[in-house]
Amino acid sequence: MVKLSTPFTDQKPGTSGLRKSSKHFEQPHYLESFLEAIFRTLPGVKGGTLIVGGDGRYGNCRAIDIILRMASAHGVSKVITTVNGILSTPAASNLIRKHKAIGGIILSASHNPGGPEGDFGVKLNAANGGPASESLTNDIYTCTLNLDEYKIVENSEISLESPGRHFISSMIVEVIDGVEDYLYLMQKLFDFDQISAFINKDFPIAFDALNAVTGPYASRLFEGLLGSPLGTVRNGLPKEDFGGCHPDPNLTYANELAELLLEGTNYSFGAACDGDGDRNMILGRGCFVNPSDSLAVLVANAHCAPAYKDGLAGVARSMPTSAAVDLVARDLGIDCFETPTGWKFFGNLLDTGKITICGEESFGTGSNHVREKDGLWAVLFWLQILASKQCTVDHLMSQHWSNYGRHYYSRHDYEEIPTEIANGIYNNIEKKMPALIGNSFADSSIIFADNFSYNDPVDGSITDKQGLRLILEDGSRLILRLSGTGTKGATLRVYLERYVSVHGKLNQNPQLALRGLIQDIDLMAEISHRTGMNRPTVIT
Ligand code: G1P
Ligand code: ZN
Repeated sequence: MVKLSTPFTDQKPGTSGLRKSSKHFEQPHYLESFLEAIFRTLPGVKGGTLIVGGDGRYGNCRAIDIILRMASAHGVSKVITTVNGILSTPAASNLIRKHKAIGGIILSASHNPGGPEGDFGVKLNAANGGPASESLTNDIYTCTLNLDEYKIVENSEISLESPGRHFISSMIVEVIDGVEDYLYLMQKLFDFDQISAFINKDFPIAFDALNAVTGPYASRLFEGLLGSPLGTVRNGLPKEDFGGCHPDPNLTYANELAELLLEGTNYSFGAACDGDGDRNMILGRGCFVNPSDSLAVLVANAHCAPAYKDGLAGVARSMPTSAAVDLVARDLGIDCFETPTGWKFFGNLLDTGKITICGEESFGTGSNHVREKDGLWAVLFWLQILASKQCTVDHLMSQHWSNYGRHYYSRHDYEEIPTEIANGIYNNIEKKMPALIGNSFADSSIIFADNFSYNDPVDGSITDKQGLRLILEDGSRLILRLSGTGTKGATLRVYLERYVSVHGKLNQNPQLALRGLIQDIDLMAEISHRTGMNRPTVIT
């Protein structure tokens, strides 16, 4: 038992658990306090099995050592962890489900930079394999507020260098290979022979692991099982600081890969995943696939993959994700749900079989095979569709747009804004909203404005204040949200969407197609005026 003089009061979990700078986590007893609250709150701890691993960033192995000793002190009967502590978020979700564990602790700050100067995070997943519910994370937070001690046993650090079985008092520690089970699952979902024949004929691919967790998975997947040449996987060794890079697969941070595909001719397909392996970016030669379109294309062509050949129960997208998938769902005659931002909102829909596939505009797509978004799954799914149709990314996109029309879409992020300024912009628009109805905007006029609220169709819970929506007469949508995952200041996200039917101009540059909306939202929300920034930090 270790006594705490004062409890930490800043441990309010955000969208994916607790995320702070590495330095913040290094304060004495900080990590332990949060873990103590988890062990006191998570159902089934005594006698239960727990899955533990992370994305390999600085602090990963230290945290695993502390978790093991605290788990033993709390009466956990078995912890399954992985060689070198390497475990991607979707692979962790799979292990939780496979071993009927009480949950999992994933050490990652997702796509945020790592290292002593970067960020660290602790994510808690529940027994269904998905992110802990809001009520569980709130209970954990409440518990942190009054902590005066935590339980931990003394034990010399267990080596994670190779698979093996160890004991801490009576608790079993099983160190397993964190890659194998995941690859086995992928082989059940997709036709590896068909994909392999396609990519090895005349369709060279490049995968960028951004020095993060997917490296070992991707090497064994592409260069091993699928027979791609060595070198297909770039930056494939997980590094504690991700080699100084920002492990976020978008055009800004995965720019090396983007250049290879958008400007070069050596590759026909490119993909990248984020720090913990749940996000994906898809590129074709000279062509970037917007994540909202990616979701729509996967749904429209799901029958190409063995796992989904019998059709889909339904689909879901987060509110700021474009409505491209809605049109496909309508066409297929299946339900399409609109949820708040954050993967946890898909959990109930997946658990009750209401949906099979879901996704977010933030480079996240997934299905009922696990309860997390899954980067490599999305990459394989794309390759499966291309292999089955024997076509290029560019061709598939053009075909999709000529069937359904095109949702021009972009997200503009303004990062590290002082919190008062970000709140000022947001509150100002929210206050003005009722008076905006009927006002002209870009080439149309505003017909609807609200702060999005979600009524969960499974448990009836209501989650409100999830982002400001402005909907125009021509179907365009503008959404403003404040990020829940940043660690420095505030991040304002502006989502822009404009639909052009099959009869319109389908091959414009999105930033040009959205120019009117971009200009008018800046004027209305006074973004550049109030932030002093004349352009967003990241444009996707
Ligand atoms: C961001 C994304 C969101 C995603 C989350 C975790 O959250 O926008 O879609 O679920 O990261 O990966 P935000 O920073 O916008 O709150
Ligand atoms: Zn992630």
